[in-house]
Amino acid sequence: MVRKFFVGGNWKCNGTAEEVKKIVTVLNEAEVPSEDVVEVVVSPPFVFLPVVKGLLRPDFQVAAQNCWVRRGGAFTGEISAEMLLNVGIPWVILGHSERRSLLNESNEFVGEKVGYALSLGLKVIACIGETLQQRESGSTMAVVAAQTKAIAAKVSYWDNVVLAYEPVWAIGTGKVATPVQAQEVHLELRKWLHDNVGAEVAASTRIIYGGSVTGANCKELAGQPDVDGFLVGGASLKPEFIDIIKSAT
Ligand code: G3P
Repeated sequence: MVRKFFVGGNWKCNGTAEEVKKIVTVLNEAEVPSEDVVEVVVSPPFVFLPVVKGLLRPDFQVAAQNCWVRRGGAFTGEISAEMLLNVGIPWVILGHSERRSLLNESNEFVGEKVGYALSLGLKVIACIGETLQQRESGSTMAVVAAQTKAIAAKVSYWDNVVLAYEPVWAIGTGKVATPVQAQEVHLELRKWLHDNVGAEVAASTRIIYGGSVTGANCKELAGQPDVDGFLVGGASLKPEFIDIIKSAT
């Protein structure tokens, strides 16, 4: 089964209208592999979604960094999945570790969000990952399996799901997982999908890595058989994001 390489750029809570337009200009001018080889999705803050979508090259896509867990209404400050679709945003990142920790998003809440977004036709980058304490205590697989189980319980259509393994201890720290560490967890996650969802889903679902990916370390990570791409934070705001896209195998 050939899985199309996937590179996501999570801009997090960064940028001004001017800075965002400069990033899009760099992306639009870049020579990159065709969309038959690599799927590129950039994720600006909500306020810049329409302008990025309007300016971005047609072979790249746009994602929101979150959405609400049900239909819109009296939920001050939230953005609904319906609104994203209404302005033509096809992707959404859900369950990012920063939201799990800062906003106490539980495994079950993330699963509900994934299910609702998929039910409306959004495509989802679903994030999982363990903390340093969990890794050092040997509970990495137990943690990511529980996170994946809560997501899988609500997934109606796996073709629209990309699973992002982002070890919390590697996010924003410069301490990237080694290729062996990444491959080990990705393989275990694929086995989990095989045993708990099915062989076809396990073979076809892209499992991408996130956590201090750079233009310097991406090639070796990309060479791992169960690393199907990246979810990039800091480096997605820089020209080296193009090098990461070019690491597509
Ligand atoms: O969602 C991707 C992000 O969490 C990774 O951040 O800055 O370590 O690449 P960074």
